[in-house]
Amino acid sequence: MFRIVIVGSGVVGQATGKGLAKKGHNITFVDINPQTIAKLRGEGLNAMTIGEVDWNAVDLVMLAVSTPSVDGKIVLDYIESAAWDVGRGLATTSNYITVVVRSTVPPTTTEERITPILEQASGKRAGHDFGVAMNPEFLRAVSNEQDFARPWITVLGTTDPRTREVLDTLYKPFGALIVHCTPTEAEMIKYVNNVYNAVKISYFNEVYAICQKLGIDGHLVGAAVARSAESMWNPLYGTRGGVPYGGACLPKDTVAFMQFVRERGWEHLMLEATIAVNEKLEQSVPAVPSPDKIDAVLQAVNARGTAAQPEDLAAEVGRSTPIVL
Ligand SMILES: NC(=O)c1ccc[n+]([C@@H]2O[C@H](COP(=O)([O-])OP(=O)(O)OC[C@H]3O[C@@H](n4cnc5c(N)ncnc54)[C@H](O)[C@@H]3O)[C@@H](O)[C@H]2O)c1
Repeated sequence: MFRIVIVGSGVVGQATGKGLAKKGHNITFVDINPQTIAKLRGEGLNAMTIGEVDWNAVDLVMLAVSTPSVDGKIVLDYIESAAWDVGRGLATTSNYITVVVRSTVPPTTTEERITPILEQASGKRAGHDFGVAMNPEFLRAVSNEQDFARPWITVLGTTDPRTREVLDTLYKPFGALIVHCTPTEAEMIKYVNNVYNAVKISYFNEVYAICQKLGIDGHLVGAAVARSAESMWNPLYGTRGGVPYGGACLPKDTVAFMQFVRERGWEHLMLEATIAVNEKLEQSVPAVPSPDKIDAVLQAVNARGTAAQPEDLAAEVGRSTPIVL
C-alpha cells in the first residue's frame, strides 16, 4: 500500500486517485480550488491544500494539474507552480518520495523543467533523494474511471531503477502491457498518441467530404476501412524507424488517388502532405534498415498469433534491451 498525494484533482487526478484507492492505496487529493476540495470532502474523500500535507506520510506524488494551450502556446505555469510546492514539501522530510508527472506535457518537460524545480526547491537530488517519473494518462474524459480501471497500456518513463520498481509495483495489478522508457519518450508517446488520433479523424473527415461529392456513403467507407486497414492485425504497423513507405501498392495508389481528387478540382490536404513527406524521406533516408529483420519480426509475431512481445518491439526499433516488460 502506498500513501499517494494527487496534486491537481480534476478529471485525471480524480480518476487516478479513485482508481488507486480501489486497489487499497491511501489517497490524499490536493487542489488549489476550494470548491474541488469541498466537493471531494463531501464524497468522504481525503482532500486538502498542499500546505496541509504531512510529507512524512507520503510515498508518492502524482502531478495531474492542467496544462492548457492558450493562443497556440502551452501553459506550464500550473505544473511548474505545483512542482515548486512539491519540492518545498520534499525539503521537509527524509522520506524517499517518488514524484510522477501525469499531466500531458511537451517532450523534455519532466527532465528539463520539472526535475530542476524539484531539486532547487528541495535542495535534494533526483534519483538519489527522491524519484521522478513521467507516466502519461490515456483515459478518455467520457469514460475516465472505467478507462483508468482497465488500461490497455501503461507507460512508465523513469531514469533510475528504484523509481521504476515503485511504479511497477503500483501498476502491475492493473494487468496492462507496461512500456518502460525514459521520461522524454513517455511524453512523446502521449503526444504522438493524441496527434495520431487527430490525424486519423482529419483524414477520415477529408475522405468523408470526397465521398459526399461522389455521392457515395462516407460512413460506410469509413467503417469498412476501420475494419480493413485500421484493425489489420499488425501490432508494429507504421513504425519502421523513419523509413518511407514503398512496395508495390502504396506509392502508386497514393499518387493515383491524389490525381483522381485533383482532376475533379477537389482537395485532400492530408494526402498531399503524406506524399510530400514520403518524397522528402525518399531523398534523405538511404535504404530500409534491416528489412529482413523487420519482416522476420512480423512473421514471427503473425505466426505466433499473440501480441508483440518485448523482444519483438526491441528488435523492431533496433534496441539491445526490451522496451516492454
Ligand atoms: N481530461 C482528459 O481526458 C485527459 C486525459 C489524459 C490526459 N489529460 C491531461 O491531464 C492533465 C489534467 O487534465 P484534467 O482534464 O484532469 O484537468 P482539469 O482541469 O480537470 O484538472 C486540473 C486540476 O488541477 C488543479 N490545479 C491547477 N493548478 C494547480 C496547482 N498548482 N496545484 C494544485 N492543483 C492545481 C485545478 O484546480 C484542477 O482542479 C492535463 O495535462 C491534461 O492534458 C487529460
